[in-house]
Amino acid sequence: MKVLTGTPPQLARWAADRVLHRLRTRSLSVLGVATGSSPLPVYRALAASGEPALASLRVFALDEYVGLPHHHPQSYHCVVDREVTRPLGLDPARVHVPDGAADDLDAAAAEYEHLIAASGGIDLQVLGIGANGHVGFNEPFSSLRSRTRVETLTARTRRDNARFFGGDLQQVPTSCLTQGLGTILDADEVVLIATGAAKAHAVAQMVEGPLSSACPASVLQLHPRATVLLDDRAAAQLTRRDDHEQAGAATGPPRNP
Ligand code: GLP
Repeated sequence: MKVLTGTPPQLARWAADRVLHRLRTRSLSVLGVATGSSPLPVYRALAASGEPALASLRVFALDEYVGLPHHHPQSYHCVVDREVTRPLGLDPARVHVPDGAADDLDAAAAEYEHLIAASGGIDLQVLGIGANGHVGFNEPFSSLRSRTRVETLTARTRRDNARFFGGDLQQVPTSCLTQGLGTILDADEVVLIATGAAKAHAVAQMVEGPLSSACPASVLQLHPRATVLLDDRAAAQLTRRDDHEQAGAATGPPRNP
């Protein structure tokens, strides 16, 4: 995987430029989006670009809590609508989020996989990383070939995400629907953003650790076009920091990783 370091605004700029470059060269029609705070500046940079071709995108979210109604402000249906669909001026009919409120969750998971495949697959997947190394909601010891499915959230993830529920752990759902690691690996390109000291350990395991389901994000070592964008604090535990380029150093459109 390619690792680039920079300030959070530089990382967001790089990721947004990558999306816009692929959009303008017609190699991006299906965008995968992550929730969480890390990618928000990317969506804001995309919205600020005013690029009209954004409206042609089809979008797939990575995951959704089980048991929250779609209109719950912390459901990823609402979060994606608030942070992506509206700011980018997308047609809501072209934006997909797994249905964590479905009666038959297994059927909803299978349907989501079907919808991704029917759209031609995800061209570029934006990712964050959990402090325990999860991507999407693929918690440690997820199968490296997993597909969209119901997953139980770990105590760590529920504690980390309690901040979105007024700090009340009881309000945080205990399970989710998430694209699998195999689903994520199928994307043509992935761009993962990690900022802040809380991610430093997971980042070191993902980049330098062995490929292991103990750190689900390490599966990205298998992806031929994965770029990891890190600020200094998230990169702090990498032992080979000198080997990595600066995200802000490149001029012109970003190269393929
Ligand atoms: C949630 C999401 C992940 C995201 C993670 C990190 O658990 N399901 O997709 O990567 O949060 O969030 P943050 O970027 O806010 O640290």
